[in-house]
Amino acid sequence: MTKVLVATEKPFAKVAIDGIRKEVEAAGFELALLEKYTEKKQLLDAVADADALIIRSDKVDAEVLDAAKKLRIVVRAGAGYDNIDLAAATAHNVVAMNTPGQNANAVAELALGLLVYAVRNFYNGTSGSELMGKKLGIHAFGNVGRNVARVAQGFGMEVYAFDAYCPADVIEAAGVKPVKSVEELYETCQFISLHIPATAETKGSIGYDLVGKMPKNGVLLNTARKEVIDEAGLAKLLEERQDLRYITDIKPDADAEYAEKFAGRYFATPKKMGAQTAEANINAGIAAARQIVDYIKNGVEKFRVNK
Ligand code: 3PG
Repeated sequence: MTKVLVATEKPFAKVAIDGIRKEVEAAGFELALLEKYTEKKQLLDAVADADALIIRSDKVDAEVLDAAKKLRIVVRAGAGYDNIDLAAATAHNVVAMNTPGQNANAVAELALGLLVYAVRNFYNGTSGSELMGKKLGIHAFGNVGRNVARVAQGFGMEVYAFDAYCPADVIEAAGVKPVKSVEELYETCQFISLHIPATAETKGSIGYDLVGKMPKNGVLLNTARKEVIDEAGLAKLLEERQDLRYITDIKPDADAEYAEKFAGRYFATPKKMGAQTAEANINAGIAAARQIVDYIKNGVEKFRVNK
């Protein structure tokens, strides 16, 4: 029987698992679960007889693919697929997919929640400030960026965006002001929300020079990936500019140093929280299950991300 394995170090909500099971069993497939695993060895053992794999931020590298002798498809239930070694997947004849957009609203709601938390001084009882009328710069206008724009407009924020791959008229159609360069975005906006993927081009690209362009009392919000930050450069800037704040749901490697040096101006959630809602889990998990069924039964490769 075709076996679909859900392997998630950070588990889905139970309702999402119920929904995934329904899709998988309706197709005549079998569902296996590996949740909250702590050792890679557990993943290596679990994938041995899986035909299909659903993951979140879990790493699927050449070693995992070697161990997964029967694997035909891996679906990242979510947007970013930097945790899958795409070349190795191709070399192992494994199709890799993501489920774009399915958890975008969850991340957007968290982004605005974190901004409120920042401007209200981490709810410490002192007088903070408001978001209405302030300029928010969205760095990359994909599914998450667009949802952040929509929610921020509800707060009455003036929303700007830069995206090297998205035409200005698409940005304008969402009531958002496109800017011509990434530098212009950071110079213009007191609040910047990052929504770039972690790629060879973007890794370490957000640091001293760029963030240093932000106006007084700037807040950099990262619900994208920790790898896009140049942590040493940002730390140097935060030391020089006492007015700046860094808020994130992905702990930097230098979390302890940041927490100590920038107390009151730095906040990181204990785990990546953006997509951690029942709704996002249901949307992304069920989409992943459907994509697997559609690929195995009908050869549909719509959301394939490897060549
Ligand atoms: C994504 O890329 O979809 C988000 O970062 C969510 O990641 P998660 O599934 O690990 O919460």
